[in-house]
Amino acid sequence: MNAVLHNDRLLRALLRQPVDVTPIWLMRQAGRYLPEYRAARARAGSFMALCQIPDWACEITLQPLARFPLDAAILFSDILTVPDAMGLGLSFSDGEGPRFARPLRSAADIARLAVPDPEVELRYVLDAVRLIRRELDGCVPLIGFSGSPWTLATYMVEGSSSKDYARIKALLYDQPSVLHCLLDTVARAVTVYLNGQIAAGAQAVMVFDTWGGILAPRAYREFSLAYLAQIVAGLTREAEQRRVPIILFTKGGGAWLEDLAATGCDAVGVDWTVDLGEARRRIGSRVALQGNLDPAVLYAAPERIRAQAAQVLADFGTGPGHIFNLGHGIQPGVDPDRVGALVAAVHELSRSRQPDRGT
Ligand code: CP3
Repeated sequence: MNAVLHNDRLLRALLRQPVDVTPIWLMRQAGRYLPEYRAARARAGSFMALCQIPDWACEITLQPLARFPLDAAILFSDILTVPDAMGLGLSFSDGEGPRFARPLRSAADIARLAVPDPEVELRYVLDAVRLIRRELDGCVPLIGFSGSPWTLATYMVEGSSSKDYARIKALLYDQPSVLHCLLDTVARAVTVYLNGQIAAGAQAVMVFDTWGGILAPRAYREFSLAYLAQIVAGLTREAEQRRVPIILFTKGGGAWLEDLAATGCDAVGVDWTVDLGEARRRIGSRVALQGNLDPAVLYAAPERIRAQAAQVLADFGTGPGHIFNLGHGIQPGVDPDRVGALVAAVHELSRSRQPDRGT
């Protein structure tokens, strides 16, 4: 594994250290908006094959980096590999999204769950991490990731994507102690899984709490935030003589930024419903901020994208601690050239905004 990192802007910014330009990477930067991704998925036969065969996962991770000068790679995988490894039987059917063959239907189902050994049941992910690090050869850092316990539990209990979250919310209000048992098991699974990714070579890790925002404030703190904090407390914080930054992202969590910052994470992801300047005033002295361009801006003309990117940079203001990203993942219908325009604009516009690094 190459210990030299040629572009360490991401890791520096995550630790609120000065950088020459604002680093940028994009959630779902490898995905359906890229024709080469769609071609690879057709050749591999399924989305799961892309995740489970390390050569494919590596190839897809590198696809966006071949097109754009992004400042990080993110492991190509999915958050739902963890419940799959716990025996729920994951599949993705075209246009339908994820589905579990054996969703959790009772307290007994939940009591039976065991924490998977990442080097056994999720070995294909860790092999992909090792391979990607080798192929990146120190070019940019590799971000590992997982879903939050609450977000994973929603899929495990609902069995698929959901409109109303009826089953998981009924469980939350009817049998909170059963839900706590599930969340604790999943939090332990996520902790060893992320530590496995870090040992395999992930240089930063992000936890996606996509559905935290559907919770009432008290329920958010009890059923999502508490387990995010449990994970942060259990993660390896240093590897290869560098700090391994942790990014937490609750979509729709703008009201709880202070709580996220107080978990001990290094950075907080911010969705596009929050003003980034306000987010910085609230928590920017404690953590770095990642975000937060509205993903729909990428449907607009390149000069509009540039103007909107300039606005996000201005909202954050000068000084360290900003990682440019979208407020959520890239939509499949986006023209890749617009992504190129965004990456170029962020690097160009932020160059003049950085105070002298003094090196
Ligand atoms: O960001 C990246 O480029 C890394 C890869 C990545 C994927 N999923 C690939 C993917 C990451 C980080 C994820 C995380 C993920 N997966 C989340 C959290 C982030 C978020 O988007 O809120 C969630 C909720 C999932 C679960 C999931 N995976 C759903 C609901 C779906 C179907 C909906 C959709 O967008 O199609 C997926 C499939 C999925 N995961 C695709 C990709 C590229 C599309 C699969 C395909 O059809 O090729």
